[in-house]
Amino acid sequence: MFKEVTNKLVSWFLHHQSFSGYLEPVMQQFIPAWRSGSFRAQVNQVKPVDHDYVYLTLAPESSWAINNISHQAGQHIELTLEINGRLLTRIFTIASSPALFKKTKEITLLIKTNKLGRFTGAITQFIQVGSWCNISKPQGDFLFESITQQVVMVAGGSGITPIISMLAEHVEKLTQPTYLRYIAETGHHQFIELLENLANKNELFTFELVTRAQHEKIPLIFDGNSSQDVYCCGPSGLMQSIKEQALVGQGNYFQEQFSIGAIVNENQSSFNVIFDGENVDITNGTTLLEQFEQKELNVTRGCGIGVCHQCVCNKKSGLVKNLRTGEVSDNGEQLIQLCISQPLSDLEITS
Ligand code: FES
Repeated sequence: MFKEVTNKLVSWFLHHQSFSGYLEPVMQQFIPAWRSGSFRAQVNQVKPVDHDYVYLTLAPESSWAINNISHQAGQHIELTLEINGRLLTRIFTIASSPALFKKTKEITLLIKTNKLGRFTGAITQFIQVGSWCNISKPQGDFLFESITQQVVMVAGGSGITPIISMLAEHVEKLTQPTYLRYIAETGHHQFIELLENLANKNELFTFELVTRAQHEKIPLIFDGNSSQDVYCCGPSGLMQSIKEQALVGQGNYFQEQFSIGAIVNENQSSFNVIFDGENVDITNGTTLLEQFEQKELNVTRGCGIGVCHQCVCNKKSGLVKNLRTGEVSDNGEQLIQLCISQPLSDLEITS
């Protein structure tokens, strides 16, 4: 109640949404990257390697880990950087294990950069050893639950990050054969030395580094009578195919996915959106967020994949499809995430 009243007064008299937002620039004079509702982390290492990967080692502020417990292997964080005066957020899985955090108080991210990407393309310019950034609490439920079960793991490209964290955390406890197939272009595989060390720690763990062509030629056999648990992280096409194979067996299937489903349109259609009172022409060919950004409307982008909720707006009327779940909304009022919403009719939306 007190907070609400304070924020109301701040919005009337100081033209800020909250008191902490008003204080931010002042606090940042003394505490770099101080932001209300976010944790600070200092950059301890930035290591670009071949094939556009960057290893980033961060030391989160002490309140990030409670009783020295940081994250669970397989979880991700939102990483926020100030790039060209704008705060940009993306999601990355923590590649290091919770056990390593206990010793070092650090976490490691493996980031696949894209020269044209606004965030990853600029990361080495805007982040240096000693600088500060913001991270969220760890999130996600792609966790390892199969210590006493036979396991098959499949990682594609940077999808190795949750899997390597799980293996580093649990390999010594495994009591059943656990096999990892790691698919990447020749020479692009990461963490090879760590994988070899893990295989030396427990002979029940084995792994293969393969290319996509090799993966397609060597069948992953999920025996229909077996109860292997299957873990997969990678591009959506790979996960779809592994899921179909895994569901033939009697084990459990687990996957992590950081991309939204592709838009499949048999017929391109055009619609009118009233966005904050302004008429905008759109099509069903891509997400609302992409089209609003192209038209330079005042929208907020965070992760771009439906996780951070920074792009939430209020749909007053019209139909949209949620590209993560495939669900089509009804015609009435509801909150939607612009980055995962495909327009299916005329719409009215307020930010
Ligand atoms: S930008 Fe993160 S949910 Fe839309």
